[in-house]
Amino acid sequence: MAILEFRGETIIDPATIKSVLASHRITYECWGVRTMEDPSAEGVLATYADDITRLKSQHDYVTEDVIALDPGTPNLETLLAKFLPEHHHTDDEVRFTVAGEGVFEINVSQNERVKFTAQPGDLIVVPAWRRHLFYLTTQKTIRCIRLFKDKAGWEAHLPYSQAGSEERALHFA
Ligand SMILES: [Fe+2]
Repeated sequence: MAILEFRGETIIDPATIKSVLASHRITYECWGVRTMEDPSAEGVLATYADDITRLKSQHDYVTEDVIALDPGTPNLETLLAKFLPEHHHTDDEVRFTVAGEGVFEINVSQNERVKFTAQPGDLIVVPAWRRHLFYLTTQKTIRCIRLFKDKAGWEAHLPYSQAGSEERALHFA
């Protein structure tokens, strides 16, 4: 179950987390942990197919996959280093945590962030263009379903361009 830290408070009630994040245009849903007979990527996607299909139709996502990071992942620290500095993507960052956990710190204004710890059963959508950072907890382990509008859109953009301040202001609304 997710944990949200914001303005000195720690929130664990899913309905409150959903409403606080929604007020900043960040989607949170609690899909829950389901029993999986087949732990392969195909099995994971089949287990959550109903919610995946619904989210794809609601937000025009076209493709999905399953990724896993753990201490045995080659170049884990190099991979994580891409997402630790504040960055954005031109596609939504859609992550459903199947196992493990990870932390998203997401800008909700020019100088304020929420800290969201995703745990098994949690779905979060960081909107396209929204500045954020991501890191693993001490477990160094996460397995996620990802959904995309366009796979090419999902890469980390570190600095804003000259026009970025306008983008930044626009995408909090
Ligand atoms: Fe990201």
